[in-house]
Amino acid sequence: MIDEATRDRLIATAQAARKQAYAPYSHYAVGAALLGADGRIYSGCNVENSSYGLSNCAERTAVFKMVSEGVREILAIVVCTVNAGSPCGACRQVLIEFAGDVPVWLVDETGNGRETTLYTLLPDHFGPEHLPGE
Ligand code: THU
Repeated sequence: MIDEATRDRLIATAQAARKQAYAPYSHYAVGAALLGADGRIYSGCNVENSSYGLSNCAERTAVFKMVSEGVREILAIVVCTVNAGSPCGACRQVLIEFAGDVPVWLVDETGNGRETTLYTLLPDHFGPEHLPGE
């Protein structure tokens, strides 16, 4: 259970991260914030490239920051966009590698939006249990 103060801190962090988005091609700025199992918040923004396919989503930026700092478990997720949009399929899969059915808040710039969960966003997902020998 994530308390309201923590949720609000995650939302504020995602809103701030969104301001760092490098999105000169799509103009769709995205900010993400993850609560790590260490109690710290990890943020990310989308980083586009003139070679479009090399662009990185905000959620994956945040996951890679968290893991590279030694934390491998996500307790809650916030994604902030202009229209409270939902994470892409690639990001759902990358998030689920490090999270259970955690709360996900999808919010707009003002913090309004909706709450869902990661397993709702990616039911019947692929995981390490599907790899023989794992
Ligand atoms: N984007 C994200 O950062 N996260 C998502 O889950 C959906 C899409 C970014 C990628 C690209 O920079 C822009 O939004 C438009 O697709």
